[in-house]
Amino acid sequence: MAKITTSTLLKMKQNGEKIAALTAYDASFAQLFDAQGVHVLLIGDSMGMVLHGADSTLSVTNEQIAYHTRCVRAGAANSLVIADMPFMTYYSADKTLENAHELMAAGANMIKMEGGDWLYDSITKLTQNGIPVCGHLGLTPQSVNVFGGFKVQGRDDLKALEMIEHAKGLEAAGAQLLVLECVPTDLAKAITDAISIPTIGIGAGNQTDGQILVMHDMFGISSGYIPKFSKNYIALTGNMREAVDLYVSEVQSGEFPDESRSFN
Ligand code: KIV
Ligand code: NA
Repeated sequence: MAKITTSTLLKMKQNGEKIAALTAYDASFAQLFDAQGVHVLLIGDSMGMVLHGADSTLSVTNEQIAYHTRCVRAGAANSLVIADMPFMTYYSADKTLENAHELMAAGANMIKMEGGDWLYDSITKLTQNGIPVCGHLGLTPQSVNVFGGFKVQGRDDLKALEMIEHAKGLEAAGAQLLVLECVPTDLAKAITDAISIPTIGIGAGNQTDGQILVMHDMFGISSGYIPKFSKNYIALTGNMREAVDLYVSEVQSGEFPDESRSFN
């Protein structure tokens, strides 16, 4: 796999080639994923749940994401590396620039932030300063306490229209990629068609430009609860390298996720 950049991802969308993404937190898995052709690696604040055992992502710090970004960067030769900005590290444009700088210096190629219209100014400033941005709409887990639980988002028409508007606004502000989490398949498709930057779905059906899973979910080793949208590729293959290989090929063929792993 040649080095993946923001231009590669844009071209993939334009050519109808699906983007395969996984979370990663250390060099060994980053190297394995990169070798199996995973285009994008995300140092997710999901680490609060899968590495630290917390029941939400809220306790993760910028320092922790920076540390794991250094680890992943060391293993990822060609995959595009995205670092998540944790809860309350991007409440003002200045704070955002300072914290995003730390993540880029740690080796990220792009940073990701959860939210809609309230982020436009920060996204423009980041992009002007040379920091590419991935947006994140739908079930944004940092707002779990506002949502009142981990729930599918955009189910009523008004919320769906609002999400489409925010996706367009994020693109206009400068975002170059967009994660859609736990939204109905039709809405994810409408958003994907409405914007020219690639969308990467998780629990968003198979009409997005790519897919992402938390690596622990894909390996079937998450403690207890496995989300409906996930798939245990170890159960299907028996080893990690083949599990990742199968995930990548099923994303590329559009076989993953099927309807049983999507929301309507
Ligand atoms: O933190 C994370 O792992 C994420 C992905 C699920 C998109 O944000
Ligand atoms: Na996240």
